[in-house]
Amino acid sequence: MAYRLLYPLRTYLVVSGKFGEEVNVMAADWVTVVSAKPLIIVVAIAPTRYTYKLVERYGELVISVPSMDMLQDVWVVGSEHGPEKLRKTKLELVPAQKVGTPIIRNALANLECRVIGRHPYGDHVLYVCEVVAYHYKEGAYKEFEPKLEAGFLAHIAWNKFTTFMSEYREVQ
Ligand SMILES: Cc1cc2nc3c(=O)[nH]c(=O)nc-3n(C[C@H](O)[C@H](O)[C@H](O)COP(=O)(O)O)c2cc1C
Repeated sequence: MAYRLLYPLRTYLVVSGKFGEEVNVMAADWVTVVSAKPLIIVVAIAPTRYTYKLVERYGELVISVPSMDMLQDVWVVGSEHGPEKLRKTKLELVPAQKVGTPIIRNALANLECRVIGRHPYGDHVLYVCEVVAYHYKEGAYKEFEPKLEAGFLAHIAWNKFTTFMSEYREVQ
């Protein structure tokens, strides 16, 4: 598929539903920032996903940042359909601060979102989401700058993933 020309892309988790009622998680590469202030992000979700039904119903979602250590769980939620799969994972779902959808306690970061726009394009629906609260692991960021050794996950193709080397160049 030609969209692979844009890869590697980072991989995220989309949590949907309501804590104590019905909750689901899926993997998503097609996530990006569209506004810094207020913080607005977009995520493309196919209507065939169980997640789609829950986002339509509740109008809220959480974007979680997984680490390489969580790859097996990322693969389970990215390849199986519906909440039953969560029993096979070690994802720790705990109540969020501002939305009814839970956050993932063992993720590197969680962004609590309210859906403020919805645009169908081709085979996906682009959800425009305002970030209303966020949480992150102290060890994974320093003043919002990611620490590469935390193991941020990137997707190469199908079942191949990578992470970033703790090595970089600074331009002058
Ligand atoms: C690494 C990875 C990235 C994915 N990115 C997306 C995405 O951006 N949008 C999407 O709709 N599906 C994406 N998927 C597919 C869903 O995660 C997958 O269909 C999942 O089983 C849906 O779960 P659900 O039906 O329980 O919601 C991705 C899958 C993987 C493995």
